[in-house]
Formats: sequence, structure tokens, C-alpha cells
Amino acid sequence: MRNITDVQWQALEEAGRAASAHAYCPYSRFPVGAAVLTADGSIAVGCNVENASFGLTCCAERNAIFRAVADGAKSIVALVLYTPTAEAVTPCGACRQVLAEFGRDAQVRCICDGPGGLDCIAHELLPHGFTLAKPAQAP
Ligand code: THU
Repeated sequence: MRNITDVQWQALEEAGRAASAHAYCPYSRFPVGAAVLTADGSIAVGCNVENASFGLTCCAERNAIFRAVADGAKSIVALVLYTPTAEAVTPCGACRQVLAEFGRDAQVRCICDGPGGLDCIAHELLPHGFTLAKPAQAP
């Protein structure tokens, strides 16, 4: 597991909180922000983006992960999830599965507006998650 410095955690927390300000959530009014740290040390952020066809909504965590991958990342070492709640909230099941694809050992930190938080590892959030063997030629 990667050693994440206090400075990196602070940057991730600030980025996740800031990203929530860009959430598009006219239906739930629940703005969520996420920030991921990639293996090369860069940070990608995401917010939840809702849709009038509710099922098309995409969570902040998946948007951050997809953005990191679009920027060239192959591996994610940490994810911060910010929710504007009194207690920390953990990622939904779909986001756990997507995170596991890029970092089963990723460190996950859930932060909120209250004093509490929650730290765990991606594989603890998704024990026995679905996997497929990757063909040798896969990029
Ligand atoms: N949401 C996230 O962005 N991440 C989570 O982990 C849980 C839920 C979003 C989806 C939706 O826009 C709103 O929060 C309410 O469910």
C-alpha cells in the first residue's frame, strides 16, 4: 500500500470539498465531491452529475475515477469522498466496483462537515468483488 503524505491527504481533501461546489444535483440537492490520487501523484476530481432520467446520474467518485483514467491513469492509490453531512458517508456499490478496477488497495477517506471521518481500503468496502482476467494484449 502506498504511503500517502499528510500534504497529499490535505490536497485531496481540499480538492474533494471544492469539487462538490460544481455538483449538478437539481433533483437530490445533495452535492458530492471526490478526489483521487493516481500512482503518478496527480489528482483528479469529480462531482455528482444528475439527469432528469434519474438512472443516468453519475456519482462524484466515478466521475473522478473516469477523469483520472481519461488523463492517462492506470492505477488509483487514494480516494477522498466529501459529503455535506454531519456523519461520513461511504461510496455506493457501483463506485466501489469501479474503484476496485483501478485500485483494490486504494486508501479511501470519507469526510463530511462533522468532526468524524472514515478511513478504509477499497477491498474492505468490496469484499469478493467481481473480477475478470485481463487478456495479455489488453492495454
Ligand atoms: N452520490 C454520489 O455522488 N456519491 C455517493 O457515494 C452517493 C451518492 C450522489 C448521487 C446523487 O446525485 C446524489 O448523491 C443522491 O444520491
